[in-house]
Amino acid sequence: MKNFRFFTFLLMLAFVSCKNEDAQYIDPRGTDYAGAQSCVECHSDISHSAMVTAHMKATAPATAENVLGSFESGQNTFVYGPNSTITMEKQGDSLYQVWKKDGEIQRKHAFDIVFGGRNAQTAVYWHNLNTYELPVSFYRSANGWGTSPGFSPTDPNFDRKMIKDCYACHSSNVRSVDAKVTSQQQNAFTMDVEDVIHKENIIYGIDCERCHGPAKKHVDYHKKFPDVKIAQQIKSFKSMGKQQKLDACSICHAGSDGMKLKSRFDFKPGDNLNDYYRPLPNAEIDVHGNQHGMLTQSKCFTKSTNMDCTTCHDAHENAPKEPSYYSRICSSCHAHPNHSKETVASASKEDLELKCVECHMPKQDSRAITFYTAFNSPNQSYQLRTHKIGVYPNKKSAK
Ligand code: HEC
Ligand code: HEC
Ligand code: HEC
Ligand code: HEC
Ligand code: HEC
Ligand code: HEC
Ligand code: HEC
Repeated sequence: MKNFRFFTFLLMLAFVSCKNEDAQYIDPRGTDYAGAQSCVECHSDISHSAMVTAHMKATAPATAENVLGSFESGQNTFVYGPNSTITMEKQGDSLYQVWKKDGEIQRKHAFDIVFGGRNAQTAVYWHNLNTYELPVSFYRSANGWGTSPGFSPTDPNFDRKMIKDCYACHSSNVRSVDAKVTSQQQNAFTMDVEDVIHKENIIYGIDCERCHGPAKKHVDYHKKFPDVKIAQQIKSFKSMGKQQKLDACSICHAGSDGMKLKSRFDFKPGDNLNDYYRPLPNAEIDVHGNQHGMLTQSKCFTKSTNMDCTTCHDAHENAPKEPSYYSRICSSCHAHPNHSKETVASASKEDLELKCVECHMPKQDSRAITFYTAFNSPNQSYQLRTHKIGVYPNKKSAK
């Protein structure tokens, strides 16, 4: 696994370097950005792990390696009705969704860019400087294909344009003009409002500078003064308050149905979420996409002084799925949880110690994301762990 990861890393580097190593390299975001490849020489360990995270793959080119789900006959079909199917087909180096009705091909579009992969993956195809969502997506919980969220299980739709806000949380750039000036001198509207995307300017995934802000000055400074070991010309997370740290993640983890004031792409660490985006008051918070809203309702959060996302997550690593990983963190504040006799009797000693999150952060159905695995199958819910840490009366066992 390690070897495979490292190999993937090298491949990605090779891919990035042909762009970045070029002395002429100008990051499409603006001349104040340096690009992820430029960080490697001084931050090799962090780069090594961060390059293969879900963040870096939040969007990716739809190569055979990046696309999830089976293209093997028998497992590559979504059934829309007795005579209507979409099949996932591989032809040469390209992957397609092919809609056939009564044996005739109706529509056929390529997988060009994929979104996600941790729990689910959806794909888009290019058409006239815009991308359109394919009607069938892959779901790990179903271990197979299902309708893309919000799509019909009986009528395939290939005409839903991917709105730019999807890219604002899933990529690092879709600015459509060539960068000859700094990002600030450019019209911010080009990121979100202008209705075209140029393929060559996309920066896939959430890269270093999407979280850390533009770092060209930082790179230039440390190249010029290699003996300086204290970071210059970069915003330090260590110097930020609790709210600022939280906001740096919540710009993408506080949902998307609130009020948008500015492009998420313009957010820099240290900025206030409130200046960009305001959740709707009294809105029902969904487990999907809104970890901020959930967490901030927990007593753990409101009654402690320094809890933020990095209490449990390393921004440069994938979030582990084993509950035991988190138990250690819970125990740092709850050394001896005061469980009732009934609770103690309900689970093994080991589960009580190692599976805190199974009972206190249970998986819940998303109301925002549901899907079908065939026209005649029931609607299924997408499940995520709630970030509202609490006591769930129906969770009396750690199974
Ligand atoms: C020529 C060397 C060099 C390059 C290239 C470089 N850095 Fe750094 N960086 C440093 C040094 C030195 C420090 C201070 C010591 C440390 O924290 O590792 C630092 C620290 C940092 C910190 C921590 C700041 C803090 O105080 O918390 C961040 C974040 C950072 N760099 C981001 C980046 C990013 C992003 C890139 C690529 C765009 C990059 N660096 C490229 C030399 C470099
Ligand atoms: C620019 C938007 C953006 C920012 C900023 C951002 N995230 Fe994410 N994050 C995403 C998206 C999109 C995904 C889903 C990626 C996927 O699974 O393909 C994600 C996934 C995750 C995951 C689950 C995937 C995994 O295995 O780790 C965690 C945990 C996470 N983010 C934590 C954080 C934390 C902590 C911060 C702040 C330090 C942060 N994120 C900042 C957009 C962002
Ligand atoms: C999802 C957001 C996110 C991404 C992507 C990201 N970082 Fe970070 N980085 C953080 C946060 C948050 C911290 C502060 C961690 C903390 O204080 O626990 C940090 C800390 C650092 C530090 C200081 C390390 C230390 O231990 O003090 C360096 C250096 C750094 N990042 C470089 C990078 C580089 C290089 C990349 C790309 C390969 C990158 N980061 C990608 C969010 C991110
Ligand atoms: C406000 C930021 C935001 C916006 C806007 C957004 N997403 Fe996401 N998306 C996330 C985050 C965060 C996650 C991962 C965790 C979760 O589901 O809560 C995610 C997860 C996903 C996943 C599953 C990824 C995985 O690895 O399991 C897919 C697919 C996806 N988003 C596609 C889209 C599409 C398509 C759009 C536009 C219609 C969109 N997203 C808009 C933040 C966003
Ligand atoms: C930074 C410290 C901290 C961490 C880490 C932490 N908590 Fe808490 N937690 C608290 C505080 C403070 C309270 C409030 C205690 C009180 O009301 O007296 C609390 C309350 C709780 C409660 C009672 C909630 C309620 O609504 O009555 C539960 C259950 C809980 N925590 C479980 C967990 C679990 C499980 C984890 C790990 C996933 C965790 N906590 C991590 C500090 C923390
Ligand atoms: C008290 C610990 C804790 C804190 C604090 C915390 N998380 Fe998590 N997070 C978890 C656990 C546990 C999981 C579930 C891992 C799993 O089972 O796959 C998780 C999973 C996630 C996922 C992936 C969702 C999924 O089910 O795949 C995202 C995204 C995420 N966290 C974002 C955040 C963000 C953003 C913050 C800050 C607003 C945050 N988390 C704060 C414990 C925490
Ligand atoms: C089998 C399910 C289960 C597991 C596993 C579990 N808990 Fe609990 N926990 C409960 C239930 C039910 C309650 C409420 C009834 C009670 O107090 O026993 C509770 C209550 C709590 C409380 C609140 C007590 C109070 O005084 O308000 C805290 C804090 C807590 N648990 C922390 C943890 C931590 C930390 C772990 C892991 C080390 C853990 N729990 C593991 C089910 C569980």
